[in-house]
Amino acid sequence: MDIQVIPVEADQLRTPPTSDFGFCRVFANRMFTQRYAPNRGWYDARIEPYGPLQLDPATVSLHYAQMIFEGMKAYRREDGRINLFRPWENMRRFNNSARRMAMATVDEEEHLAAICKLIDLEAEWVPSETDASLYIRPTMLATDTTLGVKASAAYLHYVIISPVGPYFSEGFNPVSVYITDEYVRAVRGGVGEAKTGGNYAASLYAGEEARKKGYSQVLWLDAIERRYVEEVGAMNICFVYEGRRIVTPPLNGSILPGVTRKSVIELGRHLGYEVVEAQVDVYEMMNDVKSGRITEVFGCGTAAVIAPVGRLGFRDEEIVVSDGLAGPVSHQLFSHLTDIQYGRAPDPFGWIYTIPQNGSA
Ligand SMILES: Cc1ncc(COP(=O)(O)O)c(C=O)c1O
Repeated sequence: MDIQVIPVEADQLRTPPTSDFGFCRVFANRMFTQRYAPNRGWYDARIEPYGPLQLDPATVSLHYAQMIFEGMKAYRREDGRINLFRPWENMRRFNNSARRMAMATVDEEEHLAAICKLIDLEAEWVPSETDASLYIRPTMLATDTTLGVKASAAYLHYVIISPVGPYFSEGFNPVSVYITDEYVRAVRGGVGEAKTGGNYAASLYAGEEARKKGYSQVLWLDAIERRYVEEVGAMNICFVYEGRRIVTPPLNGSILPGVTRKSVIELGRHLGYEVVEAQVDVYEMMNDVKSGRITEVFGCGTAAVIAPVGRLGFRDEEIVVSDGLAGPVSHQLFSHLTDIQYGRAPDPFGWIYTIPQNGSA
């Protein structure tokens, strides 16, 4: 892929923040874009100044949500170079989402090379502060302009990047979770396993309701029996039994196949835990937390890596997990994974891709 690099006007250049990053509050000076048409394939690849997109009001993705995205991070190593964590998994998931949403797919190698080139050019936006990182958001929009309900022929693919602070800015604190059996996020046969905007729109109302009840995240149950645990907020979920057995729900079509989930399974086994993908019945789970058989509950995802759960609410009941503290398994997995991501520990799994420097990506 030939990528045209368009300079940013000197008076438009912004300098990256060095503290108080928050989550995606400001974006780097440039973004990657390319367009698709059936008779041309992907064309007009550019790294151009970050700025508003011009979209016709009848653009298909604005009406029928034919869009997908990804979420991944770049990490600054101690030697100054920049790591990506299992980027091939995100590239593959992007295309899986594209296929499910009847969209054009991208060349995975070229997509990764474009991301590397963008980050290499905007390297000053990758923070060096402890536990800060650069969030990468590849996105694809259906761009046909018609109100007919059918798959678009034309697409816009773009990548924007933004520095983000540590998820746990005040220590590794457990989150509170409300289990809803009233609302569902996704259903088997639907689009739950695709990273598409509608899944997130569908989660917002229940998220607000949970917040009103004093919880920060929603735990979703399966849409059919409303009994089996699926995900928590925008994370996969794991339960630790007796400190040594980690259980996570199997990928059943409505759960997003998380890269962190996959890494927890592989790293957990490597560390000697028994790791099982099995259905978790919400009623049994609540009893197992109460009896102390479940010793820890944690969410896992790119943003937090590991998010311990300290409180679970279900209907009118509330129970405390691990005395409301982050447990040892959560701690161990968090530090092991982040050490690999930042290059502080060896990577026996081949998960790290270090970005080639000086525009050579
Ligand atoms: C719904 C949902 N589940 C799980 C995850 C975790 O996936 P990953 O570990 O790839 O970030 C995410 C975040 O991307 C998500 O949005």
